[in-house]
Amino acid sequence: MNQIRKRVGAFLSYRGCYYPERMIAGYDDACLTAPRMKATFHTLASADESPWKDSVSASDGLPIRDSGAWIETKHRLLTYYAHLFATGMRYSWKSRVYLELFSGPGRCLIRKTGKEDLGSPLKVIEHQFTKFIFTEMSLPAAEALAQRLEPFENATNTEIWCGDCADAIQKIRVPAGSLTLAFIDPTGIGHAPFSLIEALHRKTRCDLLINIQHGMGIKMNIHHYTPDADEQSALTKFLGNDLWKQIPRHNPREFFRGVQGLYKKQLDKLGFSFVGREVFIANDNNTPLYLLLYASKHPKGKEFWDKAMKGVLPMEFDFGS
Ligand SMILES: C[S@@+](CC[C@H](N)C(=O)[O-])C[C@H]1O[C@@H](n2cnc3c(N)ncnc32)[C@H](O)[C@@H]1O
Repeated sequence: MNQIRKRVGAFLSYRGCYYPERMIAGYDDACLTAPRMKATFHTLASADESPWKDSVSASDGLPIRDSGAWIETKHRLLTYYAHLFATGMRYSWKSRVYLELFSGPGRCLIRKTGKEDLGSPLKVIEHQFTKFIFTEMSLPAAEALAQRLEPFENATNTEIWCGDCADAIQKIRVPAGSLTLAFIDPTGIGHAPFSLIEALHRKTRCDLLINIQHGMGIKMNIHHYTPDADEQSALTKFLGNDLWKQIPRHNPREFFRGVQGLYKKQLDKLGFSFVGREVFIANDNNTPLYLLLYASKHPKGKEFWDKAMKGVLPMEFDFGS
């Protein structure tokens, strides 16, 4: 982990000690004596070893992801659902796996407020899963995540795969007889082709929570999606077919609705027939950014998702959006 210090530069005041939010007050000394747990770390040939160019955390000196305030809703829904899943399934599924394909470094900086918050892996690491698997392309980010997980007991049940998640998914071994919650949180639709969902489906029985960048990725890019687009088109890869070419393109919103319908059909073909109500997330100017789509092969999954929606977004749940 000393590599991280080298990578992020000598100007950092690295303290060698990371405190999860809830541990901060009055627990400084505990961190000095707390046993450090090691996740298993795999580096793939596709890992991006470029030095970290984003910010570093004021609290631990490690790489941190710049983000907007909107991540809060995403994280709240994820953690609420992950809690229901991990506790609700613990008697029927001995092996419960949390698999996150685009994990980031485990800490975010909210640009507008300058406030730091935990990244998704640290939000779920104490939930009752029996195994955690994270994939992240950037080596400095993956190493920072490994270090940030060290104070948690569950780090010993954790694998971090550094490299392209499409490569990692081929190598990851999910214990037989597991039920998996897969969180897919890319920065663009081009990073999450439908072949990735198919690979996941072949690997393990899972519920899916997918972040779909419909604002920038689909609606604002509608001019790229013309009928002469080839099979390398981001949208064709995302959907796993080019049936989107049959959707009228005069209205971006309607176009996206059509794409969403096709995506759900693709999920249905794999057996993900229970698709929850999607949550649209907008930025501070109310520009739509992405939506969270939930899909399960079992009605129980949708029931849990509805509960999570009710718990986190009661107003939207009651009045529709
Ligand atoms: C939206 S961020 C993840 C944020 C994190 N899930 C959270 O909520 O705290 C997406 C991450 O995916 C990583 N990434 C991009 N392409 C990737 C790929 N093909 N495979 C694995 N990770 C990738 C980026 O380096 C970035 O850290």
